[in-house]
Amino acid sequence: MTTRAPNHLPAWQALLSHHSRIASLHMRRLFADDAERARRFSLEACDLFLDYSKNRITAQTMELLFELARQADVEAWRERMYAGDAINTSEGRAALHVALRHPGDAPFPHADRDVMPQVLAARRRMREISDALRAGTRLGHSGKPITSVLHIGIGGSHLGMEMAVQALAAREAGRPAVRFVSSVDAANLAGALQGLDAETTLFIVASKTFSTAETMLNAASAAQWLRAGSGRDAIAGQFIAVTANDDAARAFGVAAEDILPVWDWVGGRYSLTSAMALPVAVAAGMDAFEELLAGAHAMDRHFHETPLEQNMPVVLGLLGVWYRNFFAAATRAVLPYDYPLRALPAYLQQLEMESAGKSVARDGDALGIATCPVVWGASGNDAQHSFFQLLHQGSELVPCDFLVAARGAHASPGHDDTLLANALAQAEALMGGREAAETRARLEGQGLGGPALKARLPHCVFAGNQPSSTLLYERLTPRTLGALVALYEHRLFVQSVCWGVNAFDQWGVELGKELAQGIVAELAGGGVGSHDGSTAALLERVRRMRSKS
Ligand code: F6P
Repeated sequence: MTTRAPNHLPAWQALLSHHSRIASLHMRRLFADDAERARRFSLEACDLFLDYSKNRITAQTMELLFELARQADVEAWRERMYAGDAINTSEGRAALHVALRHPGDAPFPHADRDVMPQVLAARRRMREISDALRAGTRLGHSGKPITSVLHIGIGGSHLGMEMAVQALAAREAGRPAVRFVSSVDAANLAGALQGLDAETTLFIVASKTFSTAETMLNAASAAQWLRAGSGRDAIAGQFIAVTANDDAARAFGVAAEDILPVWDWVGGRYSLTSAMALPVAVAAGMDAFEELLAGAHAMDRHFHETPLEQNMPVVLGLLGVWYRNFFAAATRAVLPYDYPLRALPAYLQQLEMESAGKSVARDGDALGIATCPVVWGASGNDAQHSFFQLLHQGSELVPCDFLVAARGAHASPGHDDTLLANALAQAEALMGGREAAETRARLEGQGLGGPALKARLPHCVFAGNQPSSTLLYERLTPRTLGALVALYEHRLFVQSVCWGVNAFDQWGVELGKELAQGIVAELAGGGVGSHDGSTAALLERVRRMRSKS
């Protein structure tokens, strides 16, 4: 295993000098010089087609990046992940999300035993619960069928599930409505409960630790709402828990058969293929969820077995390193041109930024290199009318991921064609831009001349050379979604190995949580804590504001 700082690897140094030679090349020229470029820089795997030719790369760039992956031991770390080694070093845990989608007929050994029996038992229980809910045979305390499911969870116990429900649920009508509550802001729970009936509502409390403050407070308030509406304690029967903390879920009152497991070898943000996805099975059906697992497994195998040069997560991860560390790109945009995938950027924000937003190496040494960029994005077509101006003419280099379905979820020729045209046009415009001479000719063609033309011209020129990768698929199916999820998980893993960070811990979220606990106690009248001047003054102002009402 490499212990060398990434920027001391020979390939990193070679990439630095290579970058200085090619950074100013325009992709227009690269395309003009190589008729084979689109073919050369594209890959197909697991029903996904990746075109990465609109990146600021040459064949040599890719060779050097693959060499960097080798020198950073990406292949050995990949083996360690599959072998169930404790690659989450600061917590001494394995990161075995790949076992969650392993096929049922093959063993997956971990710590001297096969984890598949417990994985399969969890899948079976998911099926029983989701089938009953969808068939209307799961009843509330008064004997009426459950018609609404409210999922309570935050971060990794929420974002992926809501993203997947949005992505897949449109295919199924007449099933229990699935809603989500994540924020501790009471407005979230109040809004989600609106119109729901205590007799017909079931709650899923999703929390690996069963101790996350926001989730536990929302769960307690939901239980109170249920009690008020039913006139009794109906937690057993109308609450399901998905957790690694069985004892806490029982103590809360959840019936033993309604506690679904996750394990310490599944990180929260990597748990979309675990029983955490119960709301996905409820909304889209367990068969659809099993299809999602099959898609994720296909991508797992592709990642595990394919040489680096043809390996989609490796290629995308290395491009991420290329822009972050050699072009100093501070952000990366994710742009789904597929409305059901509109929550993908929010899901990837946690996956990538909570995993690789770190400044120390696995051994605790300062890294001294840039790591995870800010990941952002939105539904591509909507975003064209908000932040695309910055992508086209701003001062930032922003590598973009375009996700494009050949056919939309609601096939409609006019809509599909317009959406697809926009996706392709935006990527083309970002790459090629429009030079001054052509812009001038067009403005003249519109009748502009003299000082008016001179004044307008600089505003209408597009520099181009903005990189993007396009992921194209026929249509968004559960299988495609599973492949996409695994693709992004492994892409992130490749980057984290190149940067030398542990992608599976998240100590950075602890400090704020700790301080908030103290402030909650203060607000409840438990004295005055020691704060910086700004925080103390804000607290004092809050107290004054509250005392008025
Ligand atoms: O605070 C961050 C975090 O620990 C995430 O890593 C995790 O996904 C989320 O909180 C929720 O944790 P839990 O599932 O234990 O409630």
